[in-house]
Amino acid sequence: MTHWSTLQRITRRSYAQSSGNITSSDSIKKQRRVVFSGIQPTGIPHLGNYLGAIQNWVALQHKLAGSPSLSADSVDSVQKILFSIVGLHAITMPQDPKVLKRERRESLACLLACGVGPGGSLEAAKPRATLFFQEEVPEHAELAWYFNTLTGVGKLQRMTTWKSKLAIAGDGDKCEHEEISKAEENLRLGLLAYPVLQAADILLYKASHVPVGEDQQQHLELSRDIADSFNHRFGKVFPLPQTMITPTKRVLSLTDPAQKMSKSAPNPSSRILITDTPEQIRKKIKGAVTDNDRSITYDPVERRGVSNLLSILGACHATTPTAGNFATSISQEDIHPDILAAELTRQGISGHAQLKGIVADAIIEKLAPIRAEYARLREDVPYLRQVAALGRDEARDAAARTMAEVRRKVGLDAI
Ligand code: AMP
Ligand code: TRP
Repeated sequence: MTHWSTLQRITRRSYAQSSGNITSSDSIKKQRRVVFSGIQPTGIPHLGNYLGAIQNWVALQHKLAGSPSLSADSVDSVQKILFSIVGLHAITMPQDPKVLKRERRESLACLLACGVGPGGSLEAAKPRATLFFQEEVPEHAELAWYFNTLTGVGKLQRMTTWKSKLAIAGDGDKCEHEEISKAEENLRLGLLAYPVLQAADILLYKASHVPVGEDQQQHLELSRDIADSFNHRFGKVFPLPQTMITPTKRVLSLTDPAQKMSKSAPNPSSRILITDTPEQIRKKIKGAVTDNDRSITYDPVERRGVSNLLSILGACHATTPTAGNFATSISQEDIHPDILAAELTRQGISGHAQLKGIVADAIIEKLAPIRAEYARLREDVPYLRQVAALGRDEARDAAARTMAEVRRKVGLDAI
């Protein structure tokens, strides 16, 4: 009998401790709670995006909907949650305009299908998330320019994402140190400045909390540095945003578990898209690289492939949390992978084929409603446009207020 339903009933261990640098609920109670996160419209989100980010965005929406209001009337007491599809980030790498346009629309439909944003009815009761296209709010690029004037080039050149793009774009060989490498010649200024634009995304809304996967930690540190530099130089405008690292912070590639699952990896079997059919999911999981040890144990250092499957299985079990304490808002009720491993072993599961069958079932069950909803929404372009316009107007409102303040502080307001 499958073990998946049994597993769903076994002891769960909360991941509360792994929610990034958020520590005590008391310290948070006194803060504004503005949540912001973004995703690039470069293809259908994969399971890493879903388990590492999107699923937690939905959880946060539920939390915010149920969290008690802070004191009523100051602007600072407003609780907001904003998610952006970041087209300006996407074009830091070459994109085909037709494909990009289609992918932007698909990204919106995907996020809605996952439960992010206003939900079925645009009139739905607030609070709910503002979902919008970054490029429809020109203040993002404007604030990024201000931040460009505060950010050291050296710091940007030391960012891991820049360095990994350099390694891919070039032949890997740096020329003599005074010369510019071939890779640097090929890459664009926008890519180097990518994290500055990300800081602008976050700080434009004075976000206090940013739920992301582990790969974004360094970008968030830069956002805090930039906020701090601005505040020191011009007076306090920005909060220092906190990273909310999600429990499933790093889903690994199915074909190379040394790498994270990624949209840009050349091998499509390395990732499961949230719109994949059950057959595709089964095939990709069947082909997932594991190891020669038939036993099922969780060891993310020595046994990455098997551990990745166990983490995915645990995260697929995560239920959308109900309203509660914000500080633990992304402490999902996942089943911890090492408990899962023990339970599977206890149930007599051995061998990776059986494990893969269970994992595939769990993913299929998780993604089935999303896939169906996506198929419906993708065709409903008028609705997608309505959602985008609503999100744009809400975001612009907040963005305009921050930019007016920034211009004034810097001395670039009306003479
Ligand atoms: P991107 O697709 O790069 O725009 O990423 C969107 C969100 O998904 C970010 O919060 C990332 O941290 C998260 N993310 C991307 N890949 C993974 C992964 N393999 N595991 C966990 N989270 C991920
Ligand atoms: N850089 C993020 C990524 O690649 C996407 C992103 C852009 C983002 N702006 C953001 C994430 C602001 C969080 C907050 O995944």
